Amino acid sequence: MLTPKGRGSLSEVVFSSLRSSTPDWRAALNTLADDDEDLQITLWALYELHYQGFEDADDRLEWQPELIELRRSLESSFENSLRDRAPSSWPDGEFADALFTFVEEHDGPSLAAFVHKDADHEQALDLLRMRSIYHLKESDPTAWVVPRLTTRTKAALMELQFDEYGGGDPNRLHSELFARGMDRCGLRAEYGAYIDDVPVEVLEENNAMSLFGLNRRLRGASLGHLAAFEMTSSIPSRRIAQGLTRLGLPAEMIEYYTEHVEADAVHEQLAVRTICGALLDESPHLRDDVFFGAFTCLDLEDRFAHRMLAEWAA
Ligand SMILES: [Fe+2]
Ligand SMILES: [Fe+2]
Repeated sequence: MLTPKGRGSLSEVVFSSLRSSTPDWRAALNTLADDDEDLQITLWALYELHYQGFEDADDRLEWQPELIELRRSLESSFENSLRDRAPSSWPDGEFADALFTFVEEHDGPSLAAFVHKDADHEQALDLLRMRSIYHLKESDPTAWVVPRLTTRTKAALMELQFDEYGGGDPNRLHSELFARGMDRCGLRAEYGAYIDDVPVEVLEENNAMSLFGLNRRLRGASLGHLAAFEMTSSIPSRRIAQGLTRLGLPAEMIEYYTEHVEADAVHEQLAVRTICGALLDESPHLRDDVFFGAFTCLDLEDRFAHRMLAEWAA
């Protein structure tokens, strides 16, 4: 993958420095983002240095002090805006019941329902391109949190991650299933291929997962996000699989979604009761952050769904 296209003053100066043999890090630090989109694409690229990196940027930039400083400043303004969007208090009561009820009662637009009944072929492909930013590195942001946990929570999380990473079979990683589906659909299956095409809502969804995974103090939010993600995956995956079948998309793409119907019915129980349960047994003070992470997952998906449905309606 190459560095993305700039989307404003900050991303332009940062990306040209990433590519340059004579980078101007001070200029990067002294430039303000024009808007949220400029901030989010910059932050996405700074996080990306910790994942697969870019072919046109030196691997050593992963730990360039000015880029770490810039990342910390962008992620703190992003975290503040996520916290501003969240409710000021969270449900009481037994944790698992409270979280299941919280997610169940959350009411947002459903892209899965649209794909199920109404989407045309091009709209379905459009959604796959947007989703590819995450699914082609599925579970990687959650992997950051593993060494930040203690024994019981870590063991529980690894049971889930083992599935996401294919149970030891390189052909069965969920990211690999998705890549195969993309390829059969005639879409580009290289990681990050569609980064220049995705709206700010997709960047926010991806950046939130990296923010939570890469900061130990946010491990509660990371696991809360994971729980909400798994809790809202099984039934929507069935709807999407049925929608893609209706549209005659290739079996490999449908298989990615059917795999998630059963897997995520198991994963939601594991994530809520075993993973978050173990975390909160040990660290009850993280309860609010678990809810914050869960809320953020649902809220960012709502924003993305609104955006796509509005674009498709137009
Ligand atoms: Fe998965
Ligand atoms: Fe899952």
